[in-house]
Amino acid sequence: MSFSDPRTRCDRTGAWAALRAHYERAGRGFDLRAAFAQDAQRFERFSQQAPHVFADLSKNLIDAPTETLLLELARECGLEAYRDAMFAGAPINNTEQRAAMHWLLRKPAPAQSGQVQTATNIVVNGLRDVHATLDAMLQLAEQVRADEAITDIVNIGIGGSDLGPAMVVKALDDLRHPAKRLHFVSNVDGMELGSLLRGLRPERTLFLIASKTFTTLETMTNAHAARDWFLAQGGSQERLTRHFYALTTNLEAAAEFGITTTLGFWDWVGGRYSLWSAIGLPIAIAIGAQGFRELLAGAHAMDAHFCSAPLASNLPVRLALLDLWYRNFFGFTSRSMAPYSHGLRRLPAYLQQLEMESNGKGVDAQGAPLPYATSPVIWGEPGTNGQHAFFQMIHQGPDVVPVEFIALREGGRDLPGQHPRLVANALAQARALMTGRPHEDCGHRSFSGNRPSSFLLLERLDPASLGALIALYEHRVFASGALWGINSFDQWGVELGKTIARDLEPRLATGDTEGLDASTAGLLRRLAS
Ligand code: F6P
Repeated sequence: MSFSDPRTRCDRTGAWAALRAHYERAGRGFDLRAAFAQDAQRFERFSQQAPHVFADLSKNLIDAPTETLLLELARECGLEAYRDAMFAGAPINNTEQRAAMHWLLRKPAPAQSGQVQTATNIVVNGLRDVHATLDAMLQLAEQVRADEAITDIVNIGIGGSDLGPAMVVKALDDLRHPAKRLHFVSNVDGMELGSLLRGLRPERTLFLIASKTFTTLETMTNAHAARDWFLAQGGSQERLTRHFYALTTNLEAAAEFGITTTLGFWDWVGGRYSLWSAIGLPIAIAIGAQGFRELLAGAHAMDAHFCSAPLASNLPVRLALLDLWYRNFFGFTSRSMAPYSHGLRRLPAYLQQLEMESNGKGVDAQGAPLPYATSPVIWGEPGTNGQHAFFQMIHQGPDVVPVEFIALREGGRDLPGQHPRLVANALAQARALMTGRPHEDCGHRSFSGNRPSSFLLLERLDPASLGALIALYEHRVFASGALWGINSFDQWGVELGKTIARDLEPRLATGDTEGLDASTAGLLRRLAS
């Protein structure tokens, strides 16, 4: 399939130069307190409702002229045409010649008669395959839920085959089947799987080997260790097929491993975008088929918003433009994620992969070095825990760190009386960052204020809202990558370390340091057995 990239790189647009001038003239000295004092409508002007997510962007260092220029930049960059190319199934992952169609995984099944005439084959055929696999997966999930013998489900996977499902299962714990415990094992450090296995009984355990490629070192090491443990506990090869399922695109390798129950997916689903596919089986086991369909529906509602809302009221686009404004003009190097929700405690870790593996690139899609910064560092902890750790630095440190608060209008089912205390803290932190508090006599007690934050509000943490929130982040990452002119769907940066590890592992046994640099050699000698 031929594909000509419709994008123009951001630094080659007229809007980029205009933004540079605007930043020097007005952006650099922007003051949030003055902006609120001058504009009684600022909250209304810079907040919006998107599907399942209300966003208050008013505490950001932007005004109407800034937003106008940023929107002009998006237009000049060809963001809409590039978005449409993704939704048409064009191979926008150009270094791997693949489409990026994770959005197709949440598209409803087409009505039997009126198939969309304009859709390309990859989309039409893909959607048919998606729904066949989805139906099979949800049926399997319901079988596991009904199987009283199985109490523990162990997902063995890493990166996108772990972070998304683990985050969602934790977030929706209120809806979890009460008789099923879900465990997630990712690290090649044997301590993780080993300590879990000590508490498990093989006849009660189902292992899900989750790996797009079925070759990932950590996952295959843990999968083999789990199989050895299962067989050593008296499990037969025959019973193994009942206790091990594979979620992968590499059906052959799964069969070779001895697994007969396999759910497949496709190379056009990036690892970090795969929780909607077969990789989501642990989610479906935890919350059931209906819950999983609601998760997909929430995400689909956000897809529709991203595809159809004008740029000025398109939430993923507005967030992406803010990221660019802060990263490339203010020079802020990171963004802190502050979900005021215990359920969302793994969201920062999930977003670290989604954002930094996608947009942590130093060359454009054609491979030319970039003269500007790309992904900010994403970090964070749930509130209020972060307040007692690093918020000191966010309030008073010399670096400005934009914070993204996420709160729920309704809390979880346990101890609901504590919820107002939680959200009061989220509101208080955002307000304190903005207003600051000068102290004339004591610098230690002085807060400069004017520190930016966004505030996202969900009605409650249910599958549909969570699906929409995740899709919002996926599209924001896509939009940022589109503006920066990079390929957000490859991850070549993870390869070199893997290759070197393969070379070093046998040297740990022999102590061979030939050809190594002095530092690696010195450490290897100390580590060699
Ligand atoms: O770390 C690189 C990576 O390829 C991620 O992109 C991916 O999510 C992870 O490894 C796991 O890959 P797989 O699902 O193929 O085991």
